[in-house]
This record gives sequence, C-alpha cells and structure tokens, in this order.
Amino acid sequence: MCIGLSGLAGASAVVVRKNRGLIDNSQALGLSKRDFEIASQAPLKRYAAAKGLIYGAATVSDFLISDADFKASFARECGILVPENELKWDSVRPAPDRFEFTKSDWLAGFARTQGMLFRGHTLVWHQQLPKWFREVVNRQNAEKFLVEHITTVTKRYAGQMHSWDVVNEAIEPNDGQSNALRKSPWLEFLGPDYIELAFRVASAVDPKTMLVYNENDLEYDTPNQAKRTAVLKLLERLKARGTPIHALGIQSHLRGEETALNLKKLRSFLSDVASMGLKILITELDVSDQKLPSDPAVRDRIIAACYEDYLSVVLDERAVIAVLTWGLSDRHTWYSMFSPRSDGIGVRPLTLDSNLKPKLAWNAMARAFDQAQKR
Ligand code: G3I
Repeated sequence: MCIGLSGLAGASAVVVRKNRGLIDNSQALGLSKRDFEIASQAPLKRYAAAKGLIYGAATVSDFLISDADFKASFARECGILVPENELKWDSVRPAPDRFEFTKSDWLAGFARTQGMLFRGHTLVWHQQLPKWFREVVNRQNAEKFLVEHITTVTKRYAGQMHSWDVVNEAIEPNDGQSNALRKSPWLEFLGPDYIELAFRVASAVDPKTMLVYNENDLEYDTPNQAKRTAVLKLLERLKARGTPIHALGIQSHLRGEETALNLKKLRSFLSDVASMGLKILITELDVSDQKLPSDPAVRDRIIAACYEDYLSVVLDERAVIAVLTWGLSDRHTWYSMFSPRSDGIGVRPLTLDSNLKPKLAWNAMARAFDQAQKR
C-alpha cells in the first residue's frame, strides 16, 4: 500500500498555496475555505508547464459533447488530449474498405480550439480490433492491411499530432516466446518485425511527430521485472536498427493496495530508458481502488499517496516530458466498468471526484509538478 514519501497528503492544498505565494483572503471574498482553496488553484496543466512538462488526459468524445461541466473542467485542467477509444481499429475501421474519422476529427478539433496538444492512441494493438478482422486478415494480406491502416490514419492527422502510440503492449513474457513478444495476431501474421515496420511507416507519413512504444505493467518490479528487461531489449534492438522511435510510454495504471512498488528499481529502469536517448511519457496514470476500504476519505488519502510516491520518482528523471491520466474525473473512468467495487460504491481513481471537485490526488499531482526539476 502506498504510504507517501512525506506522510499522507492531508494538508496538501495549503502547501501548494504556500508554494505559489497566494494569500488566503477567503473571508474577504465570502468563500468557504474549501471553495477558496479550489478557486485559487492553478490548473494542473499550469503546474506542469511551469516545469516544462505537459499534463493532460484521455477522454471520450461523447463525454465532452454531452457533459458541459466535464468539458469545462477538461479544458481548464488539460494541456494535451488523447482519445481513449476513438483512434483504435474498431472505431476507425468499421469495414475492411472503410475508414471512419467523425469522432476522432471532433476530438482533434476540440483540442485545436482549446489550444491543447493532441496525441494518438493507438496504431497497432491486439485488442479492440474490429469484428471483421479475424475473418479477413491473414498471413498473406496482413502487411497490406497494417501499412494501409497506419498510412491512412497518420496522414489524416499529419502535422497535428504531438505524439503517436505506434505500437501498444507488444511484450508479454508469460506468452512463452523466446523474445518475450506477445502472441498477438500481428506477431502470428507478420513475425517480430511488424514492430519496426509500424514505426517506419508512421515516420514516413508524419516525420515530425514523436513516435512512442507504449507498454503496461512496467511500474511494479514483482512480477514484472521480466517485462522491463524485455522492453529494454526491444528498445535497444529498435534503436540499433535505426528505427524511428523517440519515446517509451509507461501506462501507469497503479493499484492502491499494491506493495511491490520498489522506487529504486523503477528509478533505475527510467535511467536505462533515458540512456538510450529516448524520452518517456506517463501515458495512462490512474490508481485503482477496487480493493481499498470503502471509506472515501481513507481511499482518497491512499490514492493521493500513490500518485505522489510514483510521480516523485518518475519526475526525477528529466527524460520524462509528459504525464497523462486515463480520464480526468471519477465521473467517467474505465474502472467503473472494468474494476467496480464489490460494495457497489463508486470508484475514485482520478484527480477530480464525480462532482468535478479536486481531490487529494489533485493536490498530490500539483505538488509533484511543483517539486519537479525544470526541463
Ligand atoms: O462503444 C461500445 C458500445 O457501442 C457498446 O454498447 C458497449 C457495450 O459494452 O461497448 C462499447 O464499447 C466499449 C468501449 O470501451 C467504449 O466504451 C467496449 O465494450 C470496451 O471494451 C471499451 O473499453 C476500453 C478498453 O480500453 C478496451 O480494452 C476502455 O474504454 C479504455 O479505457 C481502455 O483503454 C486501455 C488502453 O487503450 C490501453 N491500456 C489499457 C487501457 C485500460 O484498459
């Protein structure tokens, strides 16, 4: 369980305020202390930007369209937006010969009008493939489909993307392959070189965007040390072959009850990645609370400490240039569907609660940005 480097994050709002040199004139403004604290906090994107970092979140177009309050919070807090689902194969490829960009175009337009960066997720993944995929794609035509897909999708947003998750979750040591590659359809059809091919195609179409290899389960050393080693080997191999890869994305789906976060080993993994000349992005940060006690106040303290412990180590590495959370508010989080609590009480993995109010996790993030070295 996360304990917090500087104790539990109880008085965090006050600390942040002091660091910002704000004066508490809540009484003069007729605000409660709590409302004053919230109103006087700069958005997270500004705390990040002050250190040369980018902060933002994943979201779904329907949430922004149907929920004006959420949309306002998103615009306020985030400096970068990544579509949670709209650029995956099953959204973009309703049929083998048809591309559908209505939702992703809407998100790109929203990001543009709000002055946010836009990032792409994801060109190659073993999940969220369309229903027709298994019937149509095979060893003979897989390369044609992959190249056509990457070319068409990257071309659509060429010059607009901050970065692309070109390949997602290609390593799975438990699948028993000698190179630790996941037994995905892409590996089955094209062999291990599909990864390099994907990066080369993306780079040819949009040479200026940052090309990212994105991976999960790299945060805890047990049982994932093998995965870290395999990822480092993959990155080394890609670099040695001159593959146009610029960054590692570390998803960072943390678990509130987890005890296996070895900060020293994590720090050394980050150094190993940075020493290859790669940038690092924290791409999907959140903290699951499925196994935590039901009291929301207790949960919030544990979750905030997880954010703070993790970010304090991660932001110590100057190759880390961006932090994105997987969602912004507990109102809209994938955990509601994928990891609900057995007591039926709402999950609280993000920085804003379901009423869009900042929680201790928000303060923990603000403070972690505040204490980071300038990039
Ligand atoms: O859009 C359909 C809808 O038409 C249908 O009625 C409904 C019925 O269940 O499903 C809807 O699709 C769901 C989709 O999210 C949009 O809500 C899918 O069932 C559901 O599987 C899908 O889940 C997404 C998941 O990836 C798929 O594996 C989550 O929203 C998304 O947050 C999650 O994101 C992944 C990252 O891409 C990669 N890293 C892990 C992360 C969390 O799993």
